[in-house]
Amino acid sequence: MEPSAAAAVTAVARRRLLILLFLFSLLFFAYLSFLSSPFSPHSSSIGTASSNRKFRSLSSSLPVHPLDPLTVDEISTVRSVLLSHPPFASPNPFPSIHSLSLAEPSKSVVRSWRPGINPLPPRRALVVAYSPSSSLSHLLTVDISSKRVIHHDTVPLSAAHGYPILTADDMSRATSAPFADPPFLQAVRSRSLAPSDLTCVPLPAGWFGKTEESARLAKVQCYSHAGTANFYMRPVEGLTVLVDLDKNRVIEILDNKQPIPLPSDDDTDYRYDVQKKKTTKQRAQYKLNPITLEQPEGPSFTVEGAHVIRWAGWELHVRPDSRAGMIISRARINDPETGKAREVMYKGMASELFVPYMDPTEGWYFKAYLDAGEYGFGLQAMSLDPINDCPRGAYLMDGVLAGSDGRPFVRPGMVCVFERYEGDVAWRHSEGPTTGINIREVRPKITLVARMSASVGNYDYIVDWEFQTDGLIRIKVSLSGMLMVKGTVYKNMSQVPEHEDLYGTLLTENLIGVVHDHYVTFYLDMDVDGPENSFVDVHIVKQETGAGESPRKSYLRVERRVAKTEEDARIKLKLYDPSEFHVVNAKRTSSVGNPTGYKIVPGATAASLLDLDDPPQERAAFTNNQIWVTQYNASEEWAGGFFVYQSQGKDTLAQWSEKNRPIENRDIVLWYTMGFHHIPCQEDYPIMPTVSSTFDLKPVNFFRRNPILRAKPYTEDDFPVCRPQASVQK
Ligand SMILES: *[C@@H]1O[C@H](CO)[C@@H](O)[C@H](O)[C@H]1NC(C)=O
Ligand SMILES: *[C@@H]1O[C@H](CO)[C@@H](O)[C@H](O)[C@H]1NC(C)=O
Repeated sequence: MEPSAAAAVTAVARRRLLILLFLFSLLFFAYLSFLSSPFSPHSSSIGTASSNRKFRSLSSSLPVHPLDPLTVDEISTVRSVLLSHPPFASPNPFPSIHSLSLAEPSKSVVRSWRPGINPLPPRRALVVAYSPSSSLSHLLTVDISSKRVIHHDTVPLSAAHGYPILTADDMSRATSAPFADPPFLQAVRSRSLAPSDLTCVPLPAGWFGKTEESARLAKVQCYSHAGTANFYMRPVEGLTVLVDLDKNRVIEILDNKQPIPLPSDDDTDYRYDVQKKKTTKQRAQYKLNPITLEQPEGPSFTVEGAHVIRWAGWELHVRPDSRAGMIISRARINDPETGKAREVMYKGMASELFVPYMDPTEGWYFKAYLDAGEYGFGLQAMSLDPINDCPRGAYLMDGVLAGSDGRPFVRPGMVCVFERYEGDVAWRHSEGPTTGINIREVRPKITLVARMSASVGNYDYIVDWEFQTDGLIRIKVSLSGMLMVKGTVYKNMSQVPEHEDLYGTLLTENLIGVVHDHYVTFYLDMDVDGPENSFVDVHIVKQETGAGESPRKSYLRVERRVAKTEEDARIKLKLYDPSEFHVVNAKRTSSVGNPTGYKIVPGATAASLLDLDDPPQERAAFTNNQIWVTQYNASEEWAGGFFVYQSQGKDTLAQWSEKNRPIENRDIVLWYTMGFHHIPCQEDYPIMPTVSSTFDLKPVNFFRRNPILRAKPYTEDDFPVCRPQASVQK
């Protein structure tokens, strides 16, 4: 939630150096992409051969699919088109670019497009720009081949509409503004801290009323990095700076002047180089030998262009995105009975996040982040570690993003794709002595994972889309990184007065991990055997038997309720009133007459318990239900609204659902919110071991029979090199 590492600022001079380095690296990446551009992008399938184990996408290669993200060259073209289009043309100051990404061709165009038969539909960019001087935001569509602006809307910006995603410049300006403000420097010195020891982070002010309606604001809070890289564990508590992002000045300093000590830096640094110098009893206790997955014949998936992945009957398009992080499109699976590809999902992505903290006091009440629309979930996704984030030999896909000056830059390895074998079983059965038939049939479970990871300030999110050979798709969200913590005078629970609410857990001396929630809302445009689908609540009800009817008193019966309108599909999960939730194609019945479908299977989750009219909850009203279904509308993709920063919650999924449109036998979108309540504990300090949750999209009456009936088991001969052997005790 929280601020970008790019925005972490210490002293002004150091910042200038970093900016120079950053610009330098942009140039370097642009140069690298330039070098690779002569590579033929049409040499499809760059992924099968074992000679090509370390394959990686060519960030500047030509697009080969209508949904391929904009390339370096395309973004540069868009910028040059803008430069001769008012108000971007000089002598005006260039409005800052808050988003510059592919304007997707319409769904019908993409669905009917055939590679090798149809030319690519016109390549277009959607640009969101903002001029602080006029308080206008510009929404433009630029046609890349004709080099023309084909749409230009201006939206008068106000808190009523919300503002676009923060840019990296917004964040670094916000965090450096306090250092030019004498009262802030005075407040720091009065705490006996050196300004040069501070790292500050820009936090969205949210919306609570009049103050947030006056300007584009950030709240800046600071931490000490003295003695540790993990500055998040050393908050300068009780000092909040309200900054006007457009006027670039400090509006107000909130200083509670309470003498809250800076928590110790002891053992807070999580870097291996630092930790390996420390000897602990644990390290002497055990050693884990290195473990990895080897594929002597190479992976089984292929990559066409840079984004179309084919594996085990699946075909899907994967692309990095500045706002969603990663977008999965056109997921289709081969039917083993017919050999034909069948549509499952047109588009799936993390649409918005909501992370409210449970502390109503001055420096904390506003912490209720909408990370995708405020910071850009993809903008905060750093390059993956090619050995530890993803297994060795994973396919690394670069992200091509635009800076606030409209220039392209490459984020190498922003997404990875790999095959996974965890020693799990896809199906099995054995027969024993009772039946006299000696059978042991087992099939290993191999899956394909597409992964991205975002470091939204202190927190890290890992999002996996995992595809199984049996047609199941598992979406997993994992959380790691640092807690957002609060300084306190207390060193021991024995000092805390009985009536006092800490709003969290005392993690170590002088440090509280504040209770909070995480919600991730997924946009799932299901197209089961085509776009016209219905949503069915397959309700499980208790039926009591009649007198004398059966020795049983009760049994469970299934009642199917087809949702007619959006209101019928607002679902709150209930353990004692359960249902399955199916997306079906009523016109594509199976050979025995059932509608073909996919069901959404929730995993461990949590629901927001905040008041519906609590301002953060109003802005995040998309979390009011765990499941929603809306009629497809290309403009309704971002659950918290298009402009989320300081929004008042007037353009959320909840409002769209209020239209109560018909959804039976229509093109529909399924929305699912995964939630976590997080009561921090000592083990989350100084960095959290990963916690995860999942939900599944599972075929239901979609295939004729088990689609992996004919899957082949392994034999020892399949593994000529590796044989399991216990380590020899020395
Ligand atoms: C903290 O309080 C507990 C319980 O009263 C006590 O056992 C422990 O020794 C205290 N620790 C310190 C460092 O004072
Ligand atoms: C599509 O969505 C936009 C944005 O919410 C809305 O203005 C428009 O009316 C919607 N169209 C339909 C047919 O609901």
